[in-house]
Amino acid sequence: MQHIPPIDPKQYDLEPLLAGRDLTPEWINTDDGDPFSPPNVARCHIVEASKVVPFHYRTARPQLPELRTWINQLVDQAQAEQQKRGSVVASITRGPSLLLLGVTGVGKTHQAYGAVRELAITGVVSRWVVTTAADLYAALRPRHGIDSETEFRRYRDARLLLVDDLGAAKISEFTEDVNFRLVNYRYENHLPTLFTSNLMSRELSGRLGDRVASRINEMCQRVVIEGRDRRRGVAA
Ligand SMILES: Nc1ncnc2c1ncn2[C@@H]1O[C@H](COP(=O)(O)OP(=O)(O)OP(=O)(O)O)[C@@H](O)[C@H]1O
Ligand SMILES: [Mg+2]
Repeated sequence: MQHIPPIDPKQYDLEPLLAGRDLTPEWINTDDGDPFSPPNVARCHIVEASKVVPFHYRTARPQLPELRTWINQLVDQAQAEQQKRGSVVASITRGPSLLLLGVTGVGKTHQAYGAVRELAITGVVSRWVVTTAADLYAALRPRHGIDSETEFRRYRDARLLLVDDLGAAKISEFTEDVNFRLVNYRYENHLPTLFTSNLMSRELSGRLGDRVASRINEMCQRVVIEGRDRRRGVAA
């Protein structure tokens, strides 16, 4: 773990996140020279998270109780594993997954990136790969100069994976194959995955196929975000 110099909590809009975990802005810049200390791990992950969280969601916070519980579960599990193994740092490697469902604009992506940001301040190693389902398929399309299988493994093996908008892209044999291979691997290896989807619970099987939907059912807690399209009226 790299030693990270002090950061400005305001620059990363951290104060509400820190307050939510009873941490002070001073805590984040505590420096005892140990690169594995929770504040240094947190500084490192805040900088990393700022590279993967899109600008629009740069201040996002996870507000759903189920999402906060999921985050805490992952952190607790990582810390328990660290104690058991006597490792220098707690890392999220395995754990449950979560599926956020809701209509367009209800705040699924906001909550998902809120989770990325929140995990960053826990002082636990949380390495995310984030994508939309459509970008995932585009990244994996066989094309000259790209080894699709190597690319696929980057998503498949991610310590933490966010797949936003699952089921939104046009279905083809190729997307079905990617969905099955990705979900099956993460299911079999208990790799924590955060999915979001516009689909209604009952549409999942029809859109993703029974075998993918069945695995998602077992590996994920399903959280339906109620409400309306928050984008409506914003421009008015
Ligand atoms: N809790 C929140 N506080 C403030 N703004 C929010 C919150 N949740 C969502 N928003 C804003 O509402 C808009 C819609 O949110 P978001 O993009 O997360 O919706 P979505 O459910 O992912 O939509 P889609 O299904 O189209 O992908 C965005 O501008 C987002 O920043
Ligand atoms: Mg979205």
